[in-house]
Amino acid sequence: MKKVLSLVLVVCLSVTMLCACGSDSKTEAKKESDKTLSMATNAEFPPYEYVDGDKVVGIDVDIAQAIADKLGMKLKVDNINFDSIIPAVTSGKDQIGIAGMTVTEKRKKSVDFTDSYATGVQAVIVKEDSKIKDAADLTKKGANNKIGVQLGTTGDLYCTDDVENAGLGKVEKYNKGADAVQALVSGKIDCVVIDNQPAKEFVKANKGLKILDTAYKEEDYAIALAKDNSELRDKINNALKELKADGTIQKILDKYITAE
Ligand code: ARG
Repeated sequence: MKKVLSLVLVVCLSVTMLCACGSDSKTEAKKESDKTLSMATNAEFPPYEYVDGDKVVGIDVDIAQAIADKLGMKLKVDNINFDSIIPAVTSGKDQIGIAGMTVTEKRKKSVDFTDSYATGVQAVIVKEDSKIKDAADLTKKGANNKIGVQLGTTGDLYCTDDVENAGLGKVEKYNKGADAVQALVSGKIDCVVIDNQPAKEFVKANKGLKILDTAYKEEDYAIALAKDNSELRDKINNALKELKADGTIQKILDKYITAE
């Protein structure tokens, strides 16, 4: 009788163990996929994101890495066109979009944003001898400039609204900010409207260009997420709060942006 009992016990035990193992490996597998934070970006935007050798580096990559570290996740970088970032986030292909992306009311209709982690300004790049002296020259009566922008950026949206749709000039849309700058260098367009930090990098890398003292518009950068992902948004906001409080965000900004 004892033998039968212990046999039953052993069988029971092994069955439970098997079940436990089975469900364990399942949760493990789930945890594994939860453990990767995949970010969509467009590495044409120094110093926020650019390609160095075969790696995507920059402020946003460092900030995303710091967030991933806090959440105990591995970071995966998906380098795509800027105007593909929001679709990548809404479709779930990537969990976050971090690309020096400005918070706008229109974008808020399709994605959620975390708290802001940096600010930017839409700057105007011209040739040193340009007749455009002020950002307001672009929208004054009788203006007729060809303005280069990166497709789908706020520079594109503002200039399309304020200049092209107002009959005050033409907006040329490029896939990369650097291509717009090359068009300016070769005289195909009159100026480029783009965020101030990449503007500085592009002016540094090309002779005969300058940034106008007057800026076009100030904006907040934040991380975009799918609308049904408030759990991750809250976690990231908490991480951002800590990274701001302990000086990590400032350290990352200072690493890439030298004070003028
Ligand atoms: N701040 C601008 C925007 O949100 C430009 C961002 C461009 N970013 C990039 N990685 N290319 O539209």
